[in-house]
Amino acid sequence: MVAKTKILIIGASGLLGSKLYEQLSEQYKIIGTCFKNKAKNLYTYDLAKKNLTIFKETKPDIVIHTAGITDVDYCETNQEEAYKINVAGTEKVIQGCKLNDSKLIYLSTDFIFDGKKGSYIEEDLPNPLNYYGKTKLKSEQLVKGSGLNYIIARTSFLYGSKQNKKFVSWCINKLNNEEYITLIADHMRTPTLVDDIAEALNALILKKRQGTYHLTGSEKLSPFSMAVRIAEIFNFDKKYLKPITSHKLNWAAQRPKNTSLNIQKLQQEGIQMSSFVEGLEKIKEQKK
Ligand SMILES: NC(=O)c1ccc[n+]([C@@H]2O[C@H](COP(=O)([O-])OP(=O)(O)OC[C@H]3O[C@@H](n4cnc5c(N)ncnc54)[C@H](OP(=O)(O)O)[C@@H]3O)[C@@H](O)[C@H]2O)c1
Repeated sequence: MVAKTKILIIGASGLLGSKLYEQLSEQYKIIGTCFKNKAKNLYTYDLAKKNLTIFKETKPDIVIHTAGITDVDYCETNQEEAYKINVAGTEKVIQGCKLNDSKLIYLSTDFIFDGKKGSYIEEDLPNPLNYYGKTKLKSEQLVKGSGLNYIIARTSFLYGSKQNKKFVSWCINKLNNEEYITLIADHMRTPTLVDDIAEALNALILKKRQGTYHLTGSEKLSPFSMAVRIAEIFNFDKKYLKPITSHKLNWAAQRPKNTSLNIQKLQQEGIQMSSFVEGLEKIKEQKK
């Protein structure tokens, strides 16, 4: 019998990591890590520690690195910690991959771009506006210079059926409670269903692809337009949705205006990503 390819998911307790763990388990031997959100099936692993035991013990063929500090404002006000976890932590994952010559799949972000242009292709010049984006770009550079077989998968505005505090469930909860919500109408993102990322990564693994790919939903929308679609699909009253422009908000970290990503390179591989409405319909189905 041929042994299954072994994948180590760093950050398998996160929004994306938990979906990757669930969906890729069908085809691969999956090992996952958590940090604060402990789970019986996951190893506890801290990116701040020098310990590479997990790599030595598990000897994965592929490492998918989704972990880190993803709170953009927290990164801005805690830069030393953000560097330690997001950048130095990625350096450690690279060292771990080198022990077994594992392929490294690094999850990056649309926030490496300054948002002045939109519809960014993989070769466009990055220029992050905030510290989170800077840590992710620095990590991309480390991955590219590592000599490993790698994929950098840049994604944007994740959503899925199991998220708690994140955008889609937050909107559903607010609308369900008939609370008014103000939403940004002048920033564009490409919302991405985590299930689609699992499928796209699986396809790229099977095709033995390397390099940088944009992995996002097929539609660019503002958070306000996303909320309108959520209200429509889940049958809530749209009167509770109020558009707002970004200059009225006082964030710690500056946000890029239009970070929509072009996914033609991915589509040319025959990989399809859902529109936001298609993604919401899938979530609705999963919640039944
Ligand atoms: N969310 C988005 O909209 C978005 C957009 C673009 C790109 N991305 C990228 O996509 C990836 C996944 O994002 P996500 O939203 O799924 O992240 P998330 O839900 O915030 O999960 C982050 C993961 O990192 C782990 N982690 C945090 N600090 C750690 C530490 N010190 N040591 C080890 N593990 C640690 C967490 O573990 P515990 O939960 O157990 O503490 C969790 O498993 C990230 O690389 C992010 O930059 C996300």
